[in-house]
Amino acid sequence: MNVLKKIESHFKKVFLTLGYNSEFAKVSFSSRPELCDFQINSAFSIAKELKQNPMDIAQKIAESANCKKYCVSAYPPAFINIKLTNQELSKLANKLRSEPNLGLDPLTQKKSILLDYGGANVAKELHMGHLRSPIIGESLKRLYKILGHNVISDSHLGDWGLQIGLTIAQLEEEKKLDFYFNKAGKEPIITLDMLNEAYPKASARKKYDTDFKKKADDYTLFVQNKVEPYFSIYKKIRENSVKKIAENYEKLNCHFDLWYGESDAEPYLEKTVQIFKDKGLARYSDGALVVDVARPGEHIPIPKKNPYDRQLYKNPMPPAIIKKSNDGDLYATTDLATILMRNQDFKLDEIHYIVDNRQSTHFEQVFRCAKLSGISPKKQVLLHVNYGTMNGKDGKPFKTREGTTIKLEDIISLLTKTALDRLEKNDIIGNNKLALQIGVAAMKFGDLCNQISKDYVFDLDKFLSFEGKTGPFIQYTFARIGSLLSKAKDFNINDYSINIEKDIERTIILNCFKLIQSYYISYQEKSLCPLTNALYNLASSYSTLYSNVKILSEKNSSKKNSLLSLSILVKEHIEQALNVLGIDAPEKM
Ligand code: ARG
Repeated sequence: MNVLKKIESHFKKVFLTLGYNSEFAKVSFSSRPELCDFQINSAFSIAKELKQNPMDIAQKIAESANCKKYCVSAYPPAFINIKLTNQELSKLANKLRSEPNLGLDPLTQKKSILLDYGGANVAKELHMGHLRSPIIGESLKRLYKILGHNVISDSHLGDWGLQIGLTIAQLEEEKKLDFYFNKAGKEPIITLDMLNEAYPKASARKKYDTDFKKKADDYTLFVQNKVEPYFSIYKKIRENSVKKIAENYEKLNCHFDLWYGESDAEPYLEKTVQIFKDKGLARYSDGALVVDVARPGEHIPIPKKNPYDRQLYKNPMPPAIIKKSNDGDLYATTDLATILMRNQDFKLDEIHYIVDNRQSTHFEQVFRCAKLSGISPKKQVLLHVNYGTMNGKDGKPFKTREGTTIKLEDIISLLTKTALDRLEKNDIIGNNKLALQIGVAAMKFGDLCNQISKDYVFDLDKFLSFEGKTGPFIQYTFARIGSLLSKAKDFNINDYSINIEKDIERTIILNCFKLIQSYYISYQEKSLCPLTNALYNLASSYSTLYSNVKILSEKNSSKKNSLLSLSILVKEHIEQALNVLGIDAPEKM
């Protein structure tokens, strides 16, 4: 139910009778809740058009619009304030629960959207820096679904790049791959610990050891060309990594329809490159194949100091490299081939990539290449949903005190342990499952409640608090309502009926409507921030009622029924919203 549209329809009629353009009847939630529930601000615009006094217009509208349902008044300088009567608000409140998804109407234009998120790299440990994509991506997926879209989620693992060559080169030098290279000894079990040790070493080494870097490049190419034993080693590494990645994603409530990686686009790589060649879109530059994607005006060369300098550009949108000079594939190549593959497998209106801000240029290049070449049809929307960095309290990307990145596994353990300690205060001892649910809620809500493109500070203690704008607070409110309802033995669900009397009850219902609206705003903004805010406001208004009113000992039985009904509605709204955020709603806390 779109409550704003409902009220608007009344005002549209009024506007028409008064001879005003009904398009001006735009209702919004009040910015001054102490004065009214909703407002219309367009008296100013109408007055300007008709060259009349805005307050006079507001007054005329208020007089004509006043009715049994709505108390309408003009407020200086020319606002139109609307307050619903308790009776009307109760009527709307009672309808909500009988509607699908508690009044959350599906969008009229249903689309097929593929969401590319997670993006974990095999051979590298999942660490804190990899958290935002799965958290944001999973909740966007759930949001799109509840609004009626067809959604496909793909983990798009990083499994075709240099990290593979680096890791193999390192492990080989450590003589851990003798079985493959020298047919010596038993087949080794390539554990994740081995990879975790090898990759950072190799990654540091490639910066100063050019021979090693060359080797890693060659090995990457061998894997990409399925040369043995490199390819078999690669497959083992991938298998072990993916198992672990999947386990961790599971703990975070992140589920994928497709567990594809860059490597799955391999059969499409050659074709992709050929399209660019055939269409005359690619040229060779220093042996590499590149596509010029800059638009007129963007590609401003900085004069070279001497002829041997590399060309630099001002405000550059550099050419996209689609083949290395050693014929290896790059990140852009696999991304383009993946678009080709996806468009062959599915009919997609949109593809959204939930990836770090720092890859903005990469995606802009890939999107332009995809459009130039026709790999992505004209009408298809390619969108980079970019997010900021998760920082430590020092404002820098989150690291341990020793300056190393924290493994995702370790942060999950830390969250669980801290939640366990916190639960002890509520006399809940040793419930690991619940502690994990709370820990994950803390982390996810702490992330999602920020403006998506901004950096934010990861503050575990704050996120885990049972008070304030946190995941655990919302869960706690949910659990408290559950426990209240379980004690209301004499309440029969057939008596469900909300009868609003007090201001706090009005606020709660209005917050339910605002929560409903926030799903659409979150969808528009591709950010869960509006939803988390609205959810918090709802939970916190309910908490006010809970602390001030003894619902169970209410003498008047119809009043008690109404309060319990209101509690049920709030509980269900919280559960639905938490579910969209990918956060569990435990019954007890
Ligand atoms: N594996 C990449 C990284 O760690 C993220 C993948 C994002 N998705 C994509 N289609 N490029 O940076």
